[in-house]
Amino acid sequence: MRVVDIIVKKRDGGELETAEIDSFIQGVTQGTIPDYQIAAWLMAVVWRGMSSREIADLTMAMVRSGEVLDLGDVAPWVVDKHSSGGVGDKTTLVVAPVVAAWGMPVAKMSGRGLSFSGGTLDKMESIRGYRVDLSRAKFLANLRRYGIVLSGQTGDLAPADGKLYALRDVTGTVESIPLIASSIMSKKIAAGANALVLDVKVGQGAFMKTLEAATTLARTMIDIGKSVGRQVTVALSAMDQPLGCAVGNALEVKEAVETLRGNGPSDLAEHCEAIAAEMLLLGRKCADVAEGRRMVRQVIADGRALGMFRTLAQAQGGDAEQVDHPGRLPQASLVEMVAAPRRGHLAGIAAMTAGLVAVDLGAGRMKKGDPVDHSVGLVLRRKVGDFVDLGEPLFEIHASRPEQIAPARERLLAAYTWSEEPVAAPPLIYDILRDA
Ligand code: URA
Repeated sequence: MRVVDIIVKKRDGGELETAEIDSFIQGVTQGTIPDYQIAAWLMAVVWRGMSSREIADLTMAMVRSGEVLDLGDVAPWVVDKHSSGGVGDKTTLVVAPVVAAWGMPVAKMSGRGLSFSGGTLDKMESIRGYRVDLSRAKFLANLRRYGIVLSGQTGDLAPADGKLYALRDVTGTVESIPLIASSIMSKKIAAGANALVLDVKVGQGAFMKTLEAATTLARTMIDIGKSVGRQVTVALSAMDQPLGCAVGNALEVKEAVETLRGNGPSDLAEHCEAIAAEMLLLGRKCADVAEGRRMVRQVIADGRALGMFRTLAQAQGGDAEQVDHPGRLPQASLVEMVAAPRRGHLAGIAAMTAGLVAVDLGAGRMKKGDPVDHSVGLVLRRKVGDFVDLGEPLFEIHASRPEQIAPARERLLAAYTWSEEPVAAPPLIYDILRDA
């Protein structure tokens, strides 16, 4: 099978056979197809799209390109959760212990932050000693012993996706629903998920800028799940302003702990309750979402969820004292409260700008491998929909160097929009799509 024929067929709008997709992905994995041919094929897919069958074939070919984690001996039914990335998104830190507290095994592999969006591994590493580089054996042992494990990727999962993603990043071929859907789903299937809750973010601070595009992506991933025997639920959730109040690693861990204590910001608490309830439903722990939501509230109220987070931290070498006393997490040397420059109703806080300001303070990285400062970031004291008086506290800047404060203040103030008229608090979740 000649690679150029596969490229031409897709370029001309043809539907690729399963064997053609398999052969192409094998060539990508083995390094026998040069980057220029891969790039040409990716661009043809961007322009021509793929049928549902092609997308499922592409997903499974990428799954087979590497190791596939079999969790069956340890946890017969694993429900995973994935967020498409956002600002202030510490949902995993809350929902993982919540569902694990109900005996649902959590075997989570997360990523690091990149550009404006934060990463769960960076957040967890704010806890002194917490290890994210578990071996496969340790990952499985912790899952068996504690029912919860949260680390970086163990093993070589879906390496073809890694190769394709790196090329997509530099060839203008990231924004393709078949490519995004197969990329996400292949990694989750390879990581052993039986069922999945996908939190697809929509808005200014997300990959998907419109609800329409996000809905198409959601339906594509549900379809992939259907054709490969994985149940998928997708939450389409807002990412126009940051989720919760804290943006920055230790600040977000602190906020997650507060949420597990029942004292978190209302938007974060509500979002986590909705996502965890969907996970419990897919995990067959409840009959419907209303029951799932009651279960979430119960383990938060009785302390079991927080206890599970403490167990998770300790099981991976983290200092549980910092969970018990989040004030002992890394603290920035400088904290500046910024007052509202005017009176009015808050109409918008651009999430992407808030994320980038936090990155500039040192909370994230612009390129892979940059170090992060766990202590720095932002705390929003008011959210969209609030009425704010002139001079009231608007946000805090947590920084390590004095010269960072003024640019952060000016940039973030410029990301706020105001209204003379009352503004309704924006929706958190636009829709939940389930495998019908
Ligand atoms: N996340 C992924 O894992 N892959 C994509 O293509 C986009 C977002």
